[in-house]
Amino acid sequence: MQSPTHRLRRAALAAALSLPVATLPTPCLRAQSDEPLRPRFHFTPPRHFMNDPNGLVFYKGEYHLFYQHNPFGATWGHMSWGHAVSRDLLGWQHLPVALREEDGIMIFSGSVVVDWKNTSGFCRVSAEDASCLVAIYTGHRPDRQTQNLAYSNDRGRTWTKYAGNPVVDLGLKDFRDPKVFWHDDTKRWVMVTVLPDQHKVRFFGSPDLRKWEALSDFGPAGATGGVWECPDLFPLPVDGVATDVGWVLDVDLNPGGLAGGSGGQYFVGRFDGTRFLNANPPDRTLWVDYGKDFYATISFSDIPPADGRRIWMGWISNWLYANEEPTEVWRGAQSVPRVLGLRRTPDGIRLVQSPVAELDTLREPGAPVLIEGSTPLPPSAEIVLEAARGDWRQAALRLTNESGEEVVVGFTAEPLEVFVDRRKARAAPAHAEYPGHHAGPVRWRDGRVQARILFDRSVIEIFANDGRTVLTERVYPIAPLTRVEWLKGETVRPGAARMWTLRSVWDTPSR
Ligand code: FRU
Repeated sequence: MQSPTHRLRRAALAAALSLPVATLPTPCLRAQSDEPLRPRFHFTPPRHFMNDPNGLVFYKGEYHLFYQHNPFGATWGHMSWGHAVSRDLLGWQHLPVALREEDGIMIFSGSVVVDWKNTSGFCRVSAEDASCLVAIYTGHRPDRQTQNLAYSNDRGRTWTKYAGNPVVDLGLKDFRDPKVFWHDDTKRWVMVTVLPDQHKVRFFGSPDLRKWEALSDFGPAGATGGVWECPDLFPLPVDGVATDVGWVLDVDLNPGGLAGGSGGQYFVGRFDGTRFLNANPPDRTLWVDYGKDFYATISFSDIPPADGRRIWMGWISNWLYANEEPTEVWRGAQSVPRVLGLRRTPDGIRLVQSPVAELDTLREPGAPVLIEGSTPLPPSAEIVLEAARGDWRQAALRLTNESGEEVVVGFTAEPLEVFVDRRKARAAPAHAEYPGHHAGPVRWRDGRVQARILFDRSVIEIFANDGRTVLTERVYPIAPLTRVEWLKGETVRPGAARMWTLRSVWDTPSR
């Protein structure tokens, strides 16, 4: 007998695979939740390859997640936009591919905006509603990248590519990843793009999303050890003070990231509607994440002002090995949606990230388990690790299994850092770039350090000191990690750790 939840999931999966429900074998469905490396609360494609999140937007009660997707295989190629929607940022319903490769033009990364007032003329206007969704994406041909539009008048279910595409063509081979937002002060749309090999961000302005004029360039600056990709630009209140606004210009970099390969950096400053002014010296690099697997972040458009959050997601992988991750049927995971903030710190104004509060609802009811001796580790969990300044070298936890595979997460005292060590995380041969110890700096706060660790089968996200230092990594043990314990070698336990089991979102119908 199939439960209603089961039927719902079957229907969603069939839609995502563009197959009639009746043809769907039951094991396919199981695979969605029961594969040993398939995360339980992180978004993964039902099958095939996924990289960057694209077009994150909130519209009429739904969060949309589009993503770089190969509809035909588990390695990069035939790039199209996969699609899913959620009402709570937790459970995602898979929808059919939204934008497909056509006429030799692949659909590379980009964004979606709500055109509330039909500035584009694409919206079917009624007495109550003049709005529609407009996607701005890069059309990729081997010798040319251009910016293009598509629109949807049915809440993102079907899309029409604009007949007048491309809307921006500089005649360049590398020119991509448009992020568009409405700039209220200048009453126009702003498009943020990259000239990847020139290490430049180029801003454009438009009254109607169709006609664009170049406004200014930013860069080279910060880290330039690889091409610049996937820019984003948004204002954030500093320390939550609405009148003290800083602008964050996020630029991804591949290779040349801090932990090797792909990585994200950001600049803090001002945006006057035409140009971005960096508040720091041009050679100053600020890293978004200190792990090896956090790339191509993009923030949601059109989160209602009453909510007011700036939320982004990033792809948990690295171009060094993205095509070789040892998962079956599918490849690629997205981070949990993260709320962003700016905080004044002794080093200057810095970006902070924390999981959306919605995630708290995944905690199994009841008190958290205290990790003391070797403790059973559920397939997905949240661990809060705290350590007070003292006579210890490492305050760290081992996530392990009977095959002796282990991932170590925690703090070192000298230097004071939060880290993930996956050197012994896979007993089978792995890509040469996979093993490693990756760490980010932290500071004592009232004599303590704290880390919130999200564990989800093959994903680890660590938010240290309320998201001031963040580390994101995939792990690929050949057998599930099933136990957690303090790292041995300390005479006195250096801190305390509490753990909650996190429920799987696959067991919950999309709410
Ligand atoms: C970043 C990226 C983008 C590009 C897309 C192609 O990971 O290289 O610059 O648009 O992926 O899939």
